[in-house]
Amino acid sequence: MRIEGLPGVGAEITDVDLRQVTGDEMDAIKQAYAEHGVLFFRDQDLSEDDHIAFGERFAPININRFFAAHPDYPEIAMVAKEADQKDNIGGGWHTDHSYDVEPAMGSVLVARVLPETGGDTFFASMYRAYDTLDDATKAEIEGLNAVHSAKHIFGSQEQTYYNTTDAGGGRIGNAAAADVLEDVVHPVVITHPLSGKKALYVNPGFTVGIAGMSKEQGAELLERLFAHAMKKEHAYLFSWKPGSVAFWDNRSTWHWALNDYHGQRRIMHRITLEGCALH
Ligand SMILES: [Fe+2]
Repeated sequence: MRIEGLPGVGAEITDVDLRQVTGDEMDAIKQAYAEHGVLFFRDQDLSEDDHIAFGERFAPININRFFAAHPDYPEIAMVAKEADQKDNIGGGWHTDHSYDVEPAMGSVLVARVLPETGGDTFFASMYRAYDTLDDATKAEIEGLNAVHSAKHIFGSQEQTYYNTTDAGGGRIGNAAAADVLEDVVHPVVITHPLSGKKALYVNPGFTVGIAGMSKEQGAELLERLFAHAMKKEHAYLFSWKPGSVAFWDNRSTWHWALNDYHGQRRIMHRITLEGCALH
């Protein structure tokens, strides 16, 4: 097995078969995951059962409340866009599940049907985003907490992305679960539970304010942090091929699924793994 760090964020791991990972390989994968934030594997041949078994070697599976499930495997969420659909799932910078009290650790995404061109996914390092902030900004955000919500994305009461575009379209449901979800707070800067490194933990998808600040003041600070975090030098654009697998950490990365393959079908299988409270 070989592990090669990529520019911006992540590492590519080659010469490994995820159906039969040895104990030593698993230790190296866990270490690389903590360090790099997202791991990419190529040329894998995972059945649904293999996919689930690989995920369960890291953490229990979190069954997503909002995504349509695989018809035979409730553990697998379908991240799908049909040829006649216009909008996609995850089409903006975000990190999954930050609206939960204990946000999911990460996801293992397996490519099943890919468009001929397009459909790449950007990832960005929130370790790097934090490390490259200027000292004044680091001091400014020290000890602050941010407010995270799912209502404006998955809920029914506001005009949300998924109920005003066709990105819902049978793919996203259970708006009632989002409506009753209490907004949560997490530190703006977390100490990563696996690596012990500091990471910026706010994201454009689900972070809606800063605790103790006015809406305007919080929005101004968040806009500044987002603009810094989404700089190209913190990011890597992953091109999916048949057999590609990505395994990312929600606490140290963001991702953004590009929607540039209209008229073509793209089907991905996602398993999400349980995480922990963040400090
Ligand atoms: Fe996502």
